Amino acid sequence: MRKNSPATISSEPPETTDGFDNIIGRSARMREIFSKIKSVADKDILVLIGGESGTGKELVAQAIHNNSYRKNAPYIKVNCAAIPDTLIESELFGHEKGSFTGAHQRKIGKFELANNGTLFLDEIGDMALTTQSKVLRIIQERELERIGGVRPVKVNVRIITATHRDLLTEVAQRRFREDLFFRINVVSLLLPPLRERLDDIILLSDFFIKKFCVKFDKPVKKLSAEVIEAFLQYGWPGNVRELQNVIESAVAMEENEIITFKSLPYPILTSSNIHLYGRRKSDRTADNLDSAQAGVLDPGGAKIQFESGISFPAGPAEFKKNEKESAGTSCEKEIDAAVAALLDNGLKFDQIERRIVVCALKKAGGRQLGAARILGVGRGEMQYKIKKFNIACKNRGQKDAAGLEAEDDE
Ligand SMILES: Nc1ncnc2c1ncn2[C@@H]1O[C@H](COP(=O)(O)OP(=O)(O)O)[C@@H](O)[C@H]1O
Ligand SMILES: [Mg+2]
Repeated sequence: MRKNSPATISSEPPETTDGFDNIIGRSARMREIFSKIKSVADKDILVLIGGESGTGKELVAQAIHNNSYRKNAPYIKVNCAAIPDTLIESELFGHEKGSFTGAHQRKIGKFELANNGTLFLDEIGDMALTTQSKVLRIIQERELERIGGVRPVKVNVRIITATHRDLLTEVAQRRFREDLFFRINVVSLLLPPLRERLDDIILLSDFFIKKFCVKFDKPVKKLSAEVIEAFLQYGWPGNVRELQNVIESAVAMEENEIITFKSLPYPILTSSNIHLYGRRKSDRTADNLDSAQAGVLDPGGAKIQFESGISFPAGPAEFKKNEKESAGTSCEKEIDAAVAALLDNGLKFDQIERRIVVCALKKAGGRQLGAARILGVGRGEMQYKIKKFNIACKNRGQKDAAGLEAEDDE
């Protein structure tokens, strides 16, 4: 045990950068993922990667390809959510010259481009049903037809898919073909959200601090003890992507050696943006890390010491100050009563969160940025929630079903 380790996170390289193929992680859940990647990589089976946005699905898909016998052949990725339904088939299967208005020349689709290699169909849960049928046919028959083509083209492609959606629900609601679901889900890898691997938060913070100090040519920085504590308590709805962005911004903005709350791009620790996700906030402290992997709790219980040399306070007493800040103090009772009423009405966490987002949007006159400010969340997170809860926000001037009018703040 290092006696005088400060309660800060160091951006020195960790003694062991645990991880696999650029995927940083040391938690039991991530070790399980690494071992699954190793065992499926070289077998030509279909893998479905699940997990919330920002949990590293793309990294995992790439790692599977890199560790397969196809590693020197093309790795082609397609984000099905980013391509309009009208264009996706031409994008995936290609088209012949003149097959439709605007098809000025032959286009080779992604399936053909990935021949002998891997095709990563990201966000497959967002693919239109008609396209799903065609993809299923290609998987089964290993051949495709370009739009306007006259003869089928053979393809030898390993397909990896990913989605942040719960495909079983999508199947139940008839938005996703059941047969395609069973076809692509031969092996599934479910990436855990960041809030469920607290020890990785520290490891990843360390990794990103180092990365961005190099990028911005800044001297080594450390996170203050309060920031570490807040990071452990925060729900990270944007997962690793969000942590990376927070650290990039903090490293860029902070001139001093210690990264404090002031250098964070938005307040991580406020009552409005701590995501409990069924866990009590007090459970989310450093003393609840899986100490077997996370590090060692020193005998006095005052600090957790990580293998990498990182240490930070563990005792609940040291968290009192921020407990207070985040509790909302004076209106706590009213909030408790309101929440109790919602729960009595049978509302689930997601429904309550949705109501909060809709309320904030209404308060802000439908302006997403204004609503984000009211809730103390970033604009990206607000957009994520609007999408997640399927809240209709139309462009400036248009009213939606809920009477919201949203600013088109692009
Ligand atoms: N375990 C990890 N180690 C290092 N970087 C990660 C890890 N997980 C995610 N990232 C980074 O976070 C960002 C989001 O990851 P990505 O694979 O695109 O997530 P997803 O596809 O699940 O939305 C990327 O910049 C990625 O490099
Ligand atoms: Mg992705």
